[in-house]
Formats: sequence, structure tokens, C-alpha cells
Amino acid sequence: MEHIVRGERVFLRAFERTDAETYRRWRADAGPMDLAGYPDRAPLSLVQVEQRIERITSDQGKDLFTFLICLLDDERPIGEVSLFEVDRLNGSAMLGIFIGESNEWGKGYGTDAVNALVDFAFAELRVERVGLNVWTENVRGMRAYEKAGFVHEGTLRHDRYEHGRFTDGHVMSLLRDEWRALPRHGTSVRPHAR
Ligand SMILES: CC(C)(COP(=O)(O)OP(=O)(O)OC[C@H]1O[C@@H](n2cnc3c(N)ncnc32)[C@H](O)[C@@H]1OP(=O)(O)O)[C@@H](O)C(=O)NCCC(=O)NCCS
Repeated sequence: MEHIVRGERVFLRAFERTDAETYRRWRADAGPMDLAGYPDRAPLSLVQVEQRIERITSDQGKDLFTFLICLLDDERPIGEVSLFEVDRLNGSAMLGIFIGESNEWGKGYGTDAVNALVDFAFAELRVERVGLNVWTENVRGMRAYEKAGFVHEGTLRHDRYEHGRFTDGHVMSLLRDEWRALPRHGTSVRPHAR
């Protein structure tokens, strides 16, 4: 099947109700949750996850696009990626990503999913800017975003309270002209990269 939003090794698809148990398991895992940017870091029950899927399904395409990241090889879901605060007047959106299957970290899937989502944002939604916040301790996350072309534009001091202390957040962004100039666009012509 040719997927609408696809990277080199992953594709992005909408949530289905049948994804609830997989997502519940991810959200109960302290490893990924320690680094993720969710305001609610408590585990979610299956009922809460089902309600969340209902909510993101009904909001999909308004100011939110949330997708499951699936491997092209076997269609297995490994995480979630989303554009939120999509502002069509100013042409901006925020990006968040969470690979719940922590044994799949460090294999390039995160960068691939971010690339696919920013291609979607710039080529389909015609935004000018994609921004994100990442905790300064999340070295893997920052590296993945840098590989996708994001640049550090500021630091939010004491932006997060966790485990009894404050940490800083980095604001990063990618602008349309920077996205267009990415080296990967010079070598492969994909529908979203035109
Ligand atoms: C952050 C996340 C999306 C990145 O996805 P990923 O598939 O693991 O990342 P990638 O494999 O594409 O890239 C990771 C890069 O970080 C590097 N890296 C990993 N650990 C590192 C460390 N301790 N120091 C320096 N670099 C590190 C890797 O080597 C790789 O860079 P390289 O390709 O130049 O070698 C994923 O790890 C994740 O979901 N983590 C938990 C939740 C989270 O942090 N979400 C983001 C919140 S802002």
C-alpha cells in the first residue's frame, strides 16, 4: 500500500480504537514517559486511553494532527507523533513525538517520523514554522531534531518540574526555507518533498 504520510522506514496513520491497549502500555512505561512532554505524566487507564482516542479522532484536522508511527516493514506501531496548536492564520504548528517501544530507540525511526511529519506540515498544511520544546536532558531527542533540521532558538529556564526539581526546556524550530534547503530534498523526490 502507498501511504499518504510516509518516511523512509516508517509511515504515519490515524489512531483506531484497537490501538488503545498498545497505547496504554506505552503510557505506563516510565522510560519513555520520563522524557516525553505530556502535561499529565500519570499512567492512563484503558478507559482514559479510549476517551483520548475519541478526542483526538474528533479534533483531527482542526488544530491537531495525531498519528501513530508504524514500521513500513511489518506495519507494527512503535509510537505517536503529532502536530498541535496548528495556527492557520500565522502558519505555525508545534510538534511532539513519543516512541513508546523503547527498544526501538536509536534506530533512526524518530528522525524518520519527524521528517515525514514536517514534510506533511510544510507541503500539505502550508505552514511557515514548526516549533517544539525539548527538555535539556533529552540529548537523544535534541540530536534527532537537529538531524531533521531543527535549530535551537531559546531556553525556557525551569520550565519543567519532575522528580523533585526543575529542569530547563529548549525551544527549537524549523522554518519553511530551511526545510526546503535540507540536503535530503536534493537526493530524493517524494510527493511531500516537492
Ligand atoms: C526522542 C525520540 C523521538 C528520538 O527517536 P529515536 O528513534 O530514538 O532517535 P534517532 O535514532 O532518530 O536519533 C537519535 C540520535 O541521538 C543520538 N544519541 C542517543 N543517545 C545519545 C546521547 N546520550 N548523547 C548523544 N547523542 C545520543 C543517536 O546516536 C542518534 O544520533 P546519530 O544518528 O547521529 O547517531 C525517541 O527516543 C523517544 O521517543 N524518546 C522518548 C520520548 C521523548 O523523548 N520524546 C521527545 C520529547 S521532546
